[in-house]
Amino acid sequence: MDWQAEALWEQLVSRVPGISIEVVPEAESTNSTLLERARLGDTSPCLLVAERQTAGRGRLGRQWQASEGRSLTFSLAWPADWEDWSGLSLVVGLAVAQGLDPTGQHLGLKWPNDLWLKGQDRKLGGILIETVPLTAATTHRLAVIGIGLNIQPRDPADTTALASGYACAQEWLPEATAASVLHQVALPLVLALDTFGHAGFSPFQTAFEQRDVLAGRTVLAGELEGTMLGVDRLGQLLVQTTSCISAVSSGEVSVRPC
Ligand code: BTN
Repeated sequence: MDWQAEALWEQLVSRVPGISIEVVPEAESTNSTLLERARLGDTSPCLLVAERQTAGRGRLGRQWQASEGRSLTFSLAWPADWEDWSGLSLVVGLAVAQGLDPTGQHLGLKWPNDLWLKGQDRKLGGILIETVPLTAATTHRLAVIGIGLNIQPRDPADTTALASGYACAQEWLPEATAASVLHQVALPLVLALDTFGHAGFSPFQTAFEQRDVLAGRTVLAGELEGTMLGVDRLGQLLVQTTSCISAVSSGEVSVRPC
């Protein structure tokens, strides 16, 4: 596949000085590769794409399965010294959704950062953010932002339960390829991270709510059952239970509609 990495690099480098872009045919997991490099002292900004992952990882310790040629898998290493990191994962999901579906007709967000096809509860993509400290200051960290997006329909021979909840970009962008989708989402992502660094989550709150697929629905957030009210200015999930409104902040909780 022609990734046109140099053209992409030219778009990004003025916003992210020193960024490199790498495309490799295979990696265990692009997140793991960048985390390992950070442990060895390389903490420079890098966008790493793998055409195939042999041990892709998802949130909550799950596996991330993506078939070669049918998906886009990449990670962005982003050194940052942000006062407040809350809401980062929502901002990343939103930036990807806006890049891929600027009109907002097709892509919704399921808190904190899954990309779902609107009105259909099928998942098109997921995001795994991991961080490592860069100095003793707790605010100064390298974020490794891993993104997996389904581009083409799944193999018709695949009839697993997972396949029934599968969505892909070609459902409304028939010409989409992994490379074209990368070009659509990379710049919005970088711009959103820049804004987040200056202003935190609050400038994104309304746009997140417009894509929120859980709004008004009954959800189960960990042990908590109630009606999803929206998110607050820190990106916390607000759930109305029978007794109170609870704010759920941990992305390490599984949330699903009932
Ligand atoms: C999820 O929905 O559970 C998150 C999935 C994140 C998958 C991406 S693919 C690129 C990067 N490398 C990984 O091993 N995981 C992330």
